[in-house]
Amino acid sequence: MAETADNIFKEFREHSVAEFFKKNRQMLGYSGKIRSLTTIIHEYVTNGLDACEDANILPEIHVKIKQLGNDHYQVTVSDNGPGIPKTHVGKVFAQMLAGTKFHRFVQSRGQQGIGASGCTMYGQITTGKPTHITTSAKKGKVYECDIMFDVKNNRADVSHEVDYEGDLKGTLVVAEFKDVTFNWSEYGPGEYLRRTAVANPHARIVFIAPDKQKFIYERVVNILPKKPEPSKPHPRGLTVDDFLDYAHSSKERTIKTFMTKTFDRVSSAKAKEVEGLTSIDFNRKPDSITWKDAEEVVDAIKKVKFLAPSTKELKPIGEKQIEKSILNVLEPDFHQVLTRSPSVYRGGVPFIIEAGIAFGGKAGRRGNGDAKVEVMRFANRAPLLFDAGADVITKTVNNIDWRRYHLKNMDSLPISIIVNITSTYVPYTSAGKQAISDEEEIRKEVTLALQDVGRKIGEHLRREYRKGEKAAKRSTLLRYVPETAGAIATLSGADKKKLELKLLKMVEDKFKNSGKADEEEGDE
Ligand SMILES: Nc1ncnc2c1ncn2[C@@H]1O[C@H](COP(=O)(O)OP(=O)(O)OP(=O)(O)O)[C@@H](O)[C@H]1O
Ligand SMILES: [Mg+2]
Repeated sequence: MAETADNIFKEFREHSVAEFFKKNRQMLGYSGKIRSLTTIIHEYVTNGLDACEDANILPEIHVKIKQLGNDHYQVTVSDNGPGIPKTHVGKVFAQMLAGTKFHRFVQSRGQQGIGASGCTMYGQITTGKPTHITTSAKKGKVYECDIMFDVKNNRADVSHEVDYEGDLKGTLVVAEFKDVTFNWSEYGPGEYLRRTAVANPHARIVFIAPDKQKFIYERVVNILPKKPEPSKPHPRGLTVDDFLDYAHSSKERTIKTFMTKTFDRVSSAKAKEVEGLTSIDFNRKPDSITWKDAEEVVDAIKKVKFLAPSTKELKPIGEKQIEKSILNVLEPDFHQVLTRSPSVYRGGVPFIIEAGIAFGGKAGRRGNGDAKVEVMRFANRAPLLFDAGADVITKTVNNIDWRRYHLKNMDSLPISIIVNITSTYVPYTSAGKQAISDEEEIRKEVTLALQDVGRKIGEHLRREYRKGEKAAKRSTLLRYVPETAGAIATLSGADKKKLELKLLKMVEDKFKNSGKADEEEGDE
């Protein structure tokens, strides 16, 4: 017998965003025991760094991972940021799609308002335990509580609240997790924090690993990164739906002023040009725009030439800063860094690529054996450890012919290749935010950056090889000096000692002069 619609629709239910992510937690990075633990560290650490920078505070982040049992760990993360107002603690840690960052066009590590709640949820569904928060949003006042996540209603259950006087600075989170594992692989929290230190020389990061090893990445830059400014959306990136949303929430009196005030690079003249390509009177109110009008405008926008998006809002790490952190963390024998000029992808989104190569010292990935080349990928200074194969940076690194830069057997060299993309919108390949999609313009910028630093590394290596070769030749010749002097003395009857001194001087002179000539050649 056929089912009736009424019967079938008895099962019809709404569900909260939190329920959705509970079922699909792999989307948030909770798949695999190592990845899950790294995800947790990533979420807390990026929040701490973002919060400090928002509040103009030089960040100091402490991370401690303690093993409690098999696949069972306690994680403690603290920052010295502005703290979280009591009224907001629940929303921060147990309400998905809530936060201060989603609605602004500002370059920051966090974007969605899911990270912290994702951790609370993962802790709760694997251990049944709450997340404990201690925070101070007012000098001298400390607030503590336990947070459970009411997943059905996407809401926090706050309990064990206490207020007291104390001099805590910032926020401290303690939570337990099962189904997670710690290791020292390139996917683990230790590597995540090492790379965080490379991209954040203005932060002090202290890490205590489960085996009690302590790592301190000292702050090597004492100024905060310049604050990224909010940017306006560029018209090129707009969809009809976006345009309608902006128009309907605008308080401007005419479509024309709405366009010039809301979007990047839209001057009055440009607005007029767009208007001329439509049948719409731009003196109308923006909230009178219909879907059809919006379609017309977005079509017209495509036919008008706008200046490329402004890029002053982007704040890259900076060459000097990367250099300092490379020296601090990797202590290489040689390094090169480069910050490219801003560029634009998809016609509307600005970005900047930075690249560095460090050679020797602690550079490269050390597993059990010898060092190997490693590629450190970053998006807005946050390390990307997973999904490397899908990432435009990895693809580009693999496509470069490193032999041209005297880097044969690249795989087995102690080299760290560093690439950071800074953008108001990083085009990730998926919600897991671990790989950057293969946009043509991004690939081009990464290629140019790596070729440039590669060339400089190549020149250096060539000089080093030459020096090595010369030193070997010199020592071979020097070895034969006594024997040769002896032979000549026997044949000619001259004084052996004198001959030896003369020969020694000849060898030294030869290398002194040829050394100079080579250096000049190398410096071209
Ligand atoms: N340590 C902290 N100190 C101060 N505020 C914080 C801290 N951690 C989180 N917040 C606030 O809580 C909000 C939610 O954090 P959450 O990690 O869930 O989202 P997000 O960082 O905005 O985006 P994403 O989901 O991409 O991480 C943040 O936007 C921020 O306002
Ligand atoms: Mg976050």
